[in-house]
Amino acid sequence: MDKFIIEGSHKLKGTVYISGSKNAALPILASALLNEKPIVIKNVPKLKDVFTTIKLLQEMGCKCNFTDNLKIDCSSVKSTKAPYELVKTMRASILVLGPLLARFKHACVSMPGGCAIGVRPVNLHIEALKNMGAQITIEDGYIKAQADKLKGTDIYLDLPTVTGTENIMMAAALAKGCTTIKNAAKEPEIVNLAEALNKMGAHIEGAGESIIKIEGVDHLHESSDISIMSDRIEAGTFMCMALATGSSIDIKHAPTCAMDAVRDKFLEANGVIKKVDDKTIKVWGENIKPINIKTMAYPGFPTDMQAQFVSMLTRASGVSIVEETIFENRFQHVAELKRMGADITLSGNKAIIKGVDKLTGAPVMATDLRASASLVIAALSAYGTTNISRIYHLDRGYEQLDVKLSNLGAKIRRVKE
Ligand code: EPU
Repeated sequence: MDKFIIEGSHKLKGTVYISGSKNAALPILASALLNEKPIVIKNVPKLKDVFTTIKLLQEMGCKCNFTDNLKIDCSSVKSTKAPYELVKTMRASILVLGPLLARFKHACVSMPGGCAIGVRPVNLHIEALKNMGAQITIEDGYIKAQADKLKGTDIYLDLPTVTGTENIMMAAALAKGCTTIKNAAKEPEIVNLAEALNKMGAHIEGAGESIIKIEGVDHLHESSDISIMSDRIEAGTFMCMALATGSSIDIKHAPTCAMDAVRDKFLEANGVIKKVDDKTIKVWGENIKPINIKTMAYPGFPTDMQAQFVSMLTRASGVSIVEETIFENRFQHVAELKRMGADITLSGNKAIIKGVDKLTGAPVMATDLRASASLVIAALSAYGTTNISRIYHLDRGYEQLDVKLSNLGAKIRRVKE
């Protein structure tokens, strides 16, 4: 296992390049299963979760060739099983359920368990597929699904689930007739998936809005024109790093049109953003102001940016209140931040953060992906040295974060524990 050793209180400067989005890449990789023909995907981030998805596809018999671009050929799939050993390391493996069922008429996908941030059921995925005509049982910890031909229907989601919307969209792409998803999730990653599917010949309208219509087709065709959007959460994380350390950095390829809520909260906290050119923004700021945040589904403030803002606000000039409404256990970073001198009280789903003058380095432990990023932010701004253990969580979703930070002048080292 690797850990980071970070010597804090050094300013960052220079340019950072934002990678392709993890949460856009994972469903698009899974969507290759719908297609008998090969596809080529550009701007795929080299991340642990992407490699896990590739392994899952390969175990099913797909051929994957990942150099600059990722070529996936799912013409000869031998197995429609997603085993527990892989699903337990990455819940997003559930994304193969819809495509497998739609193309191969059956699927056997390990039921994802809870994870560090919450219970995270998949009941809405299952109910929707049942409404489309699938027979689904849970046996031996596996979701066993079969359907001779999925049928398009109206599906109302009780909650706008992101991967649920993606699973239904993928299943509906090859279903008979028209599927309408109501109260669909509107995240930009869903728009990216719809674009990818449409480039393969699917008929999807309305992605990014709360009603999505999918007219099923018989087959998809090859495409070499699919590209993963830039990662809005990675871009937001670097914005927090700049403001937390009182630094000015240039961020290239930030998907600013998908970042309104994060931008507004960053500005409210005294950050500054200037457009440098079409691809680059300059961000800086100091004297962080206290702000209130409530996480919500897109276009609300993303839960995936909550931990990073909490970390940054530990040094604001007053009291901030951050409310988490998406996941029931997403404050595990708080206990670790307190070990570094933060003054945070948890009350139900709210964190009450009283700004302190300084944080001090300490040994801390990463508990999940975004919690890890929040500890890196705290470590960069703290006095002294911080050791962050279990950074395998971080490697799941940030491409070479230590290398990118070193290039910005941070004193960060990756060592074996
Ligand atoms: N929910 C249900 N039933 C379901 C599905 C969801 O009750 O069948 C609940 C969840 O428990 C949660 C809420 O609905 O309370 C929203 O969960 P959602 O299904 O939208 O989350 P997800 O699809 O499992 C994706 C991202 C997460 C991100 C959330 C929210 C991917 C691969 N994962 O998860 O990303 O936090 O949407 O935006 O896209 C991360 O990148 O760190 C991460 C956790």
